[in-house]
Amino acid sequence: MRLYRINENVRKPIIAGNWKLHKTLQEAVQLVTLLKRSLPADQDVEVVVCPPFTALSETAEVLMESGIHVGAQDLYWEDKGAFTGEVSAPLIKDAGAGFVIVGHSERRQFFHETHETVNKKTKAALKAGLAPIVCVGETLAEREAGKTFAVLEDQLKGAFLGFTQEEIRKVIVAYEPVWAIGTGRTALPEQAQEAHAFIRKEIQKRFGEEAAKALRIQYGGSVKPDNIGSLMKQEDIDGALVGGASLEADAFAEIVKTAGKAAREKEVRSCCTP
Ligand code: 13P
Repeated sequence: MRLYRINENVRKPIIAGNWKLHKTLQEAVQLVTLLKRSLPADQDVEVVVCPPFTALSETAEVLMESGIHVGAQDLYWEDKGAFTGEVSAPLIKDAGAGFVIVGHSERRQFFHETHETVNKKTKAALKAGLAPIVCVGETLAEREAGKTFAVLEDQLKGAFLGFTQEEIRKVIVAYEPVWAIGTGRTALPEQAQEAHAFIRKEIQKRFGEEAAKALRIQYGGSVKPDNIGSLMKQEDIDGALVGGASLEADAFAEIVKTAGKAAREKEVRSCCTP
């Protein structure tokens, strides 16, 4: 019998919306106002929205005491200085955010993010008290070449080099296969589960059983209201990082609610099935 969530290794499901480069300030405020109305504060699911930097503080203001958290989509690792155009963890925190996405595949692909920068950014986020959502995932070519696990191993090793068990406990990992992002081609629940189980195993190898058990791993890539339920049923899928479907209040709220329902069923199943 395995206990899920009803013990100290609480893995509260976490659904985050990555808005990417979308929404003016007015549109952002409108969206979070709608979300606040449709998602009551006592959700069993932790909910995060990640607007562009320009809308961070206003959305945080609207969402104050709503139970919905705000996150940034990137950060720079230095706190301050002559780094034109960059935004640091303390500034993100000051804007009212509690989370930050690190190493998204779009940043790795278009903005030359490396293992080293992901590592520095994740450390900087933790130092400022932000919860980092660290993204990993293979491209289609890597999957077809049978390199998925090698790529994940490499990315995890790079991201968490020099981390302590204590630090790992504050991190969230998002498995986002690049071929599933924005393509409408979601990974099969079993495919995602296989990758999530691998990630947990890697964390266990490096940081021990407790850290691995407590680690929340989100799935990302074409998550929609109609596929979140089957993904969340998988043992090692603890939430989702949602792109396109997070831009629309109804779709995102439905994803959160369906995820909560699936997580509760999973909890009952794992607690009460011998
Ligand atoms: P989509 O949900 O649009 O595929 O995007 C996923 C993603 O990249 C979230 O970070």
